[in-house]
Amino acid sequence: MLSPSYLSDTAPGRGARRAPRSWLASDAPTLSLNGTWRFRLSPTAGLDDAIAAPDFDDGGWGTIPVPSHWVLEGDGAHGLPIYTNVQYPFPLDPPHVPDENPTGDYRRTFVLPSDWPADAALVLRFDGVESMYRVWLNGAEVGIGTGSRLAQEFEVTDLVRTGENVLVVRVHQWSAASYLEDQDQWWLPGIFRDVTLAARPADGLDDVWLRTGWAEGAGWIDAEITASASAFPVTLRIPELGVETVWAEPDDVARVELAAVDPWTAETPRLYAASVEAAGETAILRTGFRTVEIRGDRFLVNGERVVFHGMNRHEAHPERGRVFDEEHAREDLARMKRFNVNAIRTSHYPPHPRLLDLADELGFWVILECDLETHGFECAAWVGNPSDDPAWRDAYLDRIKRTVERDKNHPSIVMWSLGNESGTGANLAAMSAWVHARDTGRPVHYEGDYTGEYTDVYSRMYSTVPETEQIGTDGSTAPLLGCTPAQGARQRTKPFILCEYVHAMGNGPGAIDQYEALVDAHPRLHGGFVWEWRDHGILTRTADGTPFYAYGGDFGEVVHDGNFVMDGMVLSDDTPTPGLHEYAAVVAPVRFAFDADGPGVTIENRRHTASTADLRFTWRLEADGRAVDGGALPVPEIAAGSSVRVALPELTPRVGVENWLTVEAVLAAATAWAPEGHIVASAQSDRTPAALPAPTAPRITGWRDAEGTLSLGPAAFESGRLVRLAGRRVDGPRLELFRAPTDNDEGGAFSDPTGSDGSVAGVSSASLWRSQGLDRLVHRLVAVQEAPGALRTVTRVSAANAALSVSVETVWALVGASLELRVEIEPSAGWSTVWPRIGVRFDLPDDDAPVTDAEWFGLGPLESYPDSLRAARVGRYTATIDGLSVPYARPQETGHRSAVRELVLGPLRLHALPDTRGRLPGFVLTRHTPQEIAAAGHPHELPVSRTTHLFLDAAQHGLGSRACGPDVWPAFSLRPEARTLRVRFSTLP
Ligand code: GAL
Repeated sequence: MLSPSYLSDTAPGRGARRAPRSWLASDAPTLSLNGTWRFRLSPTAGLDDAIAAPDFDDGGWGTIPVPSHWVLEGDGAHGLPIYTNVQYPFPLDPPHVPDENPTGDYRRTFVLPSDWPADAALVLRFDGVESMYRVWLNGAEVGIGTGSRLAQEFEVTDLVRTGENVLVVRVHQWSAASYLEDQDQWWLPGIFRDVTLAARPADGLDDVWLRTGWAEGAGWIDAEITASASAFPVTLRIPELGVETVWAEPDDVARVELAAVDPWTAETPRLYAASVEAAGETAILRTGFRTVEIRGDRFLVNGERVVFHGMNRHEAHPERGRVFDEEHAREDLARMKRFNVNAIRTSHYPPHPRLLDLADELGFWVILECDLETHGFECAAWVGNPSDDPAWRDAYLDRIKRTVERDKNHPSIVMWSLGNESGTGANLAAMSAWVHARDTGRPVHYEGDYTGEYTDVYSRMYSTVPETEQIGTDGSTAPLLGCTPAQGARQRTKPFILCEYVHAMGNGPGAIDQYEALVDAHPRLHGGFVWEWRDHGILTRTADGTPFYAYGGDFGEVVHDGNFVMDGMVLSDDTPTPGLHEYAAVVAPVRFAFDADGPGVTIENRRHTASTADLRFTWRLEADGRAVDGGALPVPEIAAGSSVRVALPELTPRVGVENWLTVEAVLAAATAWAPEGHIVASAQSDRTPAALPAPTAPRITGWRDAEGTLSLGPAAFESGRLVRLAGRRVDGPRLELFRAPTDNDEGGAFSDPTGSDGSVAGVSSASLWRSQGLDRLVHRLVAVQEAPGALRTVTRVSAANAALSVSVETVWALVGASLELRVEIEPSAGWSTVWPRIGVRFDLPDDDAPVTDAEWFGLGPLESYPDSLRAARVGRYTATIDGLSVPYARPQETGHRSAVRELVLGPLRLHALPDTRGRLPGFVLTRHTPQEIAAAGHPHELPVSRTTHLFLDAAQHGLGSRACGPDVWPAFSLRPEARTLRVRFSTLP
C-alpha cells in the first residue's frame, strides 16, 4: 500500500522506466495489448494494491475498450467530461490534488508468444494515459508513469512469464502532473493510446536517428545508432539512392554524402524508404532531406524563407475524444491541404506518433509541441508556477526529452516547442538548453519567452495588426509586450511567427487578409497558426434522443468555460466553416493580378519550392451570373517565387448586364489529398463594358393621408404595412438593427497591450447592443400617405426607456411591372456605439407555400461580411434555406450574402439597386429571428419555425476576432448612419 503522497509527487515517474527513444517500425516482435480490459471506476484514489494480485477476483467489474477515455464510455456510467480553459478544475494547491479523484482500475491477461526470441528484453509501452498510472505485472509493481500525451516504456523482462500474465493498471484522473497539463481542452482520463508489449532483441537497435540535410541538390545523413557493440555491423540502406553503407563498429558510423537527392518540403514531401539493419533487428524508416536554419531574422528551410500558413491542431474526435482515429486524422490533414494549409502546430502536446507519419507523407511544416501548460497559475499571478520551481525541474526535462526523442526522425518537424502558456522560468530555460544540445538541427519555440532569453524565434499570440506591423518593421522602436527597449530590439533580430492568431470561434474570424498583407510586406514575419483547426464538440444526446455537439457546461461541470472549446475552422462534424474558405482564399499559393487596363493577367507562384507544373489554368466569362464562354488558359510553368504575365483571351462581354471574368488555378492531376480539378486559387475581374446606371427613382407627387387596406400592383397593405405580395402573405418591412451576437460580438476580455489598434478590454459589443435595446425595438407609425401608384410611411423606431430613435421612411411605387421599395433609415443624434446591422425584415409565413430555397446573383456561394470577403465571388447561386445558415455550435448570426443584385424566392423576384454611393445590400434568409437565435444555446434549442425571415441589410458590422483577439477593424465597423435601401419586386411568369 502506498501513501497518498505519491499523487503529489512532482517526479515524472518511478520504477523500471526506460530512456525515451524513437517510435520506430522494426521487425522486432510486438504484441498489442489494446482490446477489452476488465475495468472498475472508483470516485477516489484507491491506494490498496489488492487488485494487483494475479488471483484477485475482478468478476464484479465491468469492461472497457483500450484505448478509450472512460468518461466517453458507458453512457455516463463512468463520469463525464469536464471542459476548462485556463482554470484548473481542482483547487490550486500544488502539488496536491483532492481526494475526490476518479480512479480507473484496469486488468487484463496476455500470453507471451512462444516464438519470441528467448534472449530478448521485454518492454511494456504506454503511448498515452491521462494522467498518472501505476502498473503491476503478475503482482509485482512495475512503475508509475505520468505525462499524458507522452510515451513511456517500462522494463519488464524479469516479470513476464511463459503462459498467462496478469497486467494491472491503476489510472488516477488527477495527480501532481495535472498541474502541468492545463491545456484549453476537455479533461479526458483513461488509457487513450496504445499499450504494447515489445521484444527488444539482444543485438537490436535501441534507437536510430537519421539526421538529414540538404543543400543545392545534394543531401547527407548523419546517423546516430544507439546499440550495443554486438549489434554491429549495422547497414544503412536506401535502395532508391543506391545507398548501402556498412558500419562495422560503433566508431565507424560517419556521414553519408549523397550527390543528388530530391529535397523534402511541405510542398514536395519526397520521402525515401530506408532501413537500418543490425545483427538482431532491422528498423524501417521513411526519410526526407531538408535543412532547417535561422539566418538573421529569416527562418529558412533548404535556404528558402518559410511562410507558415498553419493551423493549431488538437487531437479531437466527437466520439473518441483524443483517441487516435487514423482514417479521420488522414482525412482531416487532406482537408487542410485542400484549404491551402501548409503547417501544423501540435497544440499543446505531441499527437499520436502516426500523425507525424501522415505529416511527412502529405507535406506539412510541423512545430512539435511538448505536453506542457500551467496556465491556471496566471490566476494566482503566477505564484508557485512550476516553470520556475526547482521541484519540477526533472518533470520538465523528462517531458521535453520524451517529446524530442520519440519524433526526432520526422522531416516534417522543423521546430520544437517547449509547451504553451506556462509563464516563464528556469525549468523552461533548462528544457531549451537540453534541446539545443541534443538537436542542433531544429530551433526552439516557446511563446511565453517574451523577452527571448532562451528561444530562437520571436513568437506571439493574437498580436493586433498594428503591433504585428511594428514587429515586422525595420527601425521600429515601438514597445513590444513584456520587453524593455533592448529586449525588444533583440526580438526584432529574430524571425517572427504568430503561434496563434485569427481566433476562429463561431462566425469569423475577420481580417485574415490584413495579417497576410503584413507577411508579404515584412520578410521577418513568417506567417502563423490559426487558433484553431476544429471544434472539440462531443457528440451527445438530449433526454429525448436528439443528437448535439456538447461543450463546456453541458455535462454539469462545477467550473467550466462554456463554448470556448468550439473555436475551430471546422465544425465538430467535419464541416469546413466559411472562415476556412476565407482563409484558403487569402493564403492561396497562386495570386492573380489583372492588368489595370490591358488584356493580361500576372500570375505569381508564391510557393516555397514547387513550380506550377502540377496546376492548369482556366478562364470563364459570365454574363448576369450565367456562363457565356470559357476554356483553358495557357500558362507556362512558373518557378516558386516567380511571376509571369499572360494574355487573356479576346472577350465579348454582353451588353446591358454585368460581365465577370473568373480565372482559376486547379490541380492538373489527383493528389493524395484532392481530386484532379480541385481549385487552388481563383480571381475575378469585372468586364462589364460600362458601369450600368442605376434606374432613377420614380418622382411622385400628390401625397395625401391614407387609411385602411390599399392595393398596389401585386401588393396589398394594411396600415401602411405590406400584408400580401405576389399572392402570398408577407409582413414587413420592419427595421432590424440587431443580429444574434457572434462569439466575437460577445467578446470583451481582449485588450491590445500596446494600445495600437484601440481594442480595449471591457464591455462587449453585444452587451452594448442589449443595453441600448437594439434587440427589442418597438415601432410607432407616424404617417401613412398615398399618391397615384405609390404609398409612403414614416415610422419612429426606438426601445423601452430609450430616447434615441431611428426614423424609417418607406416609399412604395409601381414602376412598370415592378414594385419599387425605397427605405430611408436615419438615426437620431446621440447614438454612440457600433451597430450590428442596418436592415429591414420581411416575414414570409409558411402557409401553403413555405420558402424552400433561394437563387441569387451576387456574392457567394458562402456567407460573407465586410472583413471576410476574400472567398466570395460574384455569381449566380442556389441554396436550400437550411443550406444558407451555418450550424455554429452556439447559434449566432449567420448566412449574410453580400452585394446581392437579384434574389429569387419561388415566384417572387427582387432586384436590388445600388444606393447613391454604389453600395448594394446583402441578404439573410433564415427560419429564425436574431432574437430567437440569440436565445438558443445549441442548434437543437431553436424553436420550431413556421415562417421564413428575409433580411435586406444596407450594411452589416464586421466580424473581427474579439472572442480572443482584436475587435473589428475601424474600417469595417458599422457606425450608426443614414442608409438607403432600394429594391424592386416582381413576379416570375
Ligand atoms: C490561447 C491558448 C489556446 C486557446 C486560445 C483561446 O491563449 O494558447 O490554448 O486557449 O488561447 O481559444
